[in-house]
Order: sequence, then structure tokens, then C-alpha cells
Amino acid sequence: MDVRILKSSFAVVERRAEHAVKYFYSHLFWHNPGLRELFPSSAEDMERQRDRLFAALTHVVTHLESGTLVPYLRDLGRDHRKFLVGPEHYAAVGTSLIAALAQTSGDAWTPAVEKAWYEAYQVIADTMTAGAADSDEPPWWDAEVVRHLQYGEDIGVLTLAPRTPLAYRPGQYVSVSSARVPTTWRTYSLANAPRPDGTVDLHVSRIDGGRLSTALVRDVLPGEVLRLGAPGGRLTLRREDRPLTLIAAGTGWAPVRALLEELLQHPPDHDVRLFVVARDAAHLYDRPLIDRHAAACRWLGVTYITPAPGQHRNQATDRLATALGNRALWREQDVYLSGPALFVEETSHVLRELGARPDRLFHDAVPVTGSQRPRPLGFGEWFLHRPAPHWHNPSARDPRG
Ligand SMILES: Cc1cc2nc3c(=O)[nH]c(=O)nc-3n(C[C@H](O)[C@H](O)[C@H](O)COP(=O)(O)OP(=O)(O)OC[C@H]3O[C@@H](n4cnc5c(N)ncnc54)[C@H](O)[C@@H]3O)c2cc1C
Ligand code: HEM
Repeated sequence: MDVRILKSSFAVVERRAEHAVKYFYSHLFWHNPGLRELFPSSAEDMERQRDRLFAALTHVVTHLESGTLVPYLRDLGRDHRKFLVGPEHYAAVGTSLIAALAQTSGDAWTPAVEKAWYEAYQVIADTMTAGAADSDEPPWWDAEVVRHLQYGEDIGVLTLAPRTPLAYRPGQYVSVSSARVPTTWRTYSLANAPRPDGTVDLHVSRIDGGRLSTALVRDVLPGEVLRLGAPGGRLTLRREDRPLTLIAAGTGWAPVRALLEELLQHPPDHDVRLFVVARDAAHLYDRPLIDRHAAACRWLGVTYITPAPGQHRNQATDRLATALGNRALWREQDVYLSGPALFVEETSHVLRELGARPDRLFHDAVPVTGSQRPRPLGFGEWFLHRPAPHWHNPSARDPRG
């Protein structure tokens, strides 16, 4: 790939990213109306999809010389099978992408630039289709809902029985789709260590107006089948010879519960401290189970954090910061964190101030903000690191799976 030409021409397009992406989709759907039905029907989801496409392109252009690009694209191609994307679709997307780049670049679009993008797209598409073709995993896993528990109005715990075995590590997540909300995929953590019967639990917190979370908590019934994408994520136990701290907020408890189950199966040599943060006592829905483990395991210490009655839920984060500050030896610890993006970001900050080592703080990727942020490259990078209301950034899959 002609890296120099690609980077300089992308810098031009980046300044008009929104225009480029809108042009791309209009061109794609105008020339290939049949492709529209692969994409979500809601305008809001399409907007999100626009961001993701540009974020992916930005990722590609900024990682052209990095060794991680090929695994990223292979996984992306493998994952596109669940969107019903086949090799026959890549040419149409390539044509619309080149048309959008040309239209957006104006005078900067020269034959040399066109040649560089054309060749680059071939490499990208070939790498994605090879990742899809070489995968020995199914395009998605059909999983039957075998149990549906509800805690209060807004928390649902679903037990699913995948019809083909789903291999994963405790702490990982999958994307989930239901026929009740077609072409809508969202990410949920698997809330248990692998079981002999292969079932997995999802803990779903309903978001007001949220399409899939509302369907999963309120509507989905036992006997229905959900689709699951390939497991991913970085919140897996490193099992170093060091004390551990697990910190979970809200349904961020789900992957931490899976990690705890792994520790119960293979007890650690060091102490484990668990902090569970919830917006109120009613949301500590697994407290009886956690209390039983704490009573049975000498190595496990648990602290529950909720706001004082009548206080806003943000007070829980302040209380957590105080509780963390009362503990020592953060430099020695491995810390696993899970919860909404802002929670993860704020708590990581507190832990670093307390002396925790950044390379021993584990969580799924959160958008980078504020002073940690490198020099902005332009609008495309704003897309890439745009503060997301959706927990961590799902596009940041661990290429090792
Ligand atoms: C790696 C990862 C793991 C996740 N694990 C879990 C999990 O185990 N359990 C779980 O319940 N969720 C989890 N999520 C969040 C989940 O993927 C969905 O984002 C969430 O369920 C909302 O989807 P929805 O379709 O209901 O809402 P949408 O229809 O996508 O959103 C509706 C509206 O709500 C806003 N919104 C979306 N999410 C939030 C939010 N968290 N807070 C406030 N407003 C929001 C949107 O911007 C939009 O305006 C995880 C997310 C990631 C990235
Ligand atoms: C250069 C090649 C491509 C890149 C870089 C790319 C990038 C992406 C990314 C990053 C996502 C979000 C993935 C996720 O959330 O898990 C996505 C989703 C999607 N892509 Fe692609 N894609 C490419 C080619 C294609 C092709 C050829 C099609 C077929 C028409 C396609 C159709 C879709 C669909 C339907 C979705 C799901 C939309 C949604 O859930 O909102 N993509 N793509």
C-alpha cells in the first residue's frame, strides 16, 4: 500500500468526514438497494454505523504500518458474517467508498490517489474475506433462552443454551441480536465461567428508550432464540502471582462474576478484594451469592458501595474513591475494572493517583479523553474517540480473542 499517499489524502477527507460518510451510504443504497436491509432501519443506529465505518477507516489509515492491522481486519471480516455480509458485497462497498472519497477530496483527487485507494481497498477487502473464509467458527451462535429472571423493573438475567459450543474465557463479551429488534446488535458480557452444560448468563440493565435492552429485560421469553457473535474482550484473568482487586459497577458485575467463578474453581494464592458498586441496595441483586462466597473463602474480601439514601447515584463513585483510598499497596495489585465508560475512566484515574500501575489495570477499552489524549488528527479521530454513552468501545476487540 502507498502509505504516504493514503495518509495525506485521508487528511483531506477527514476534515469532511460526515459529508463523506453520508455520500458513501447514499451512493451504496442508491446503486444497491438490496443492501439496505442488511443495515439497521433506525436513523439513530445508522448514524452510529456511520461513525463506526469512519472510525474503522481511520483505524486502518492510522495503523497502516502496524502489525496489528491484519489481525484486526481478519477479525472484522469474520465478524461481518453475522451481519449476513458475503464476499460478493465487497466490490459494491469498494466502489461507493472510492466514489465518496473522490467526491469529498475535490482537486486533491488525482489518478495516483485513486490508484492508491483502489489498491488499498483490495488489500482490506481481501484480508477481511480471507478472515471470514478461514474461520472455523460459525458466523453466529443460535442460543435458546432457557431461563429469564427479572430483578426490579430494569434488570434481567437471561440464561442461554447455545446450540453449538461457544468457547470463551471468563470476562469476555459477545454481541447479541434478537429477532424482536432485527439487524440490531449490542454487546453483553458473559456472566459465568464456562459450565459443563454450556449455558451462559447475560445480565442486562434496561436503558430508558434502549431498543435491545428493553426487549431483553421486558419481552424476550424462554424458548426464544437469540443470536450471539464471537466472544471478545480483554478483561480476562492474567493469573500473575500478585494480589487482585476486582471492581464492578452496575451490570459491570457480569464479567466480574465470571472472573470470580474462575477464581473459585482455581483458588488464588493471594487475597482478592471485590468492590461492588450499585445505584441503590435494590440493584445489588447478587448480594446473597457474593455473601456466601465471602463467608466460604478466606481469600475473598467484599465491599459494597451504594449512595446514601436520597443521594444521586454519582455519590457511589465518590464513596468508592474514599474506600479505595483507605487501602494500601496499589502498586502491587492487579486490578480488573468493569462498568459504564465514565465509571471506568474515573476509577482508573483514582487508582493511578493512588499508585496503581497502568499496565496492571485491566478493563475493556474506554474512549480516551482530556489530557491523556494525543494531538487530535482531525474530525475522523473525533469520531474514533468520541465520548460514547455505551460503556467501553466495542470495536476494540482483543485480536487474540
Ligand atoms: C464491551 C461491552 C459490554 C457490555 N456489557 C453489558 C452488560 O453486561 N449488560 C448490560 O446491560 N449492558 C452492557 N453493555 C451495554 C450494551 O451493549 C448496550 O449499549 C445497552 O444495553 C443499550 O442498548 P440498547 O439497544 O438498549 O439502547 P440503544 O437503543 O442503543 O440506545 C437508546 C438510547 O440510550 C442511550 N444509551 C445507550 N446506552 C446507554 C447507557 N449505558 N447509559 C445511558 N444512555 C445510554 C443511547 O445513546 C440512545 O440515545 C456493554 C457494552 C459494551 C461495549
Ligand atoms: C472496508 C471494508 C469494511 C469495513 C472497514 C467495515 C467496517 C465496519 C465496522 C467497524 C462495523 C461495526 C462492527 C461492530 O459493531 O461489531 C461494521 C458493521 C457493519 N458492516 Fe461493515 N465494513 C466493511 C465492509 C462491509 C461490507 C462489504 C458490507 C456489506 C454490505 C458491510 C456491512 C456492514 C453491516 C450490515 C454492519 C452492521 C451495522 C450495524 O449493526 O449497525 N460492511 N462495518
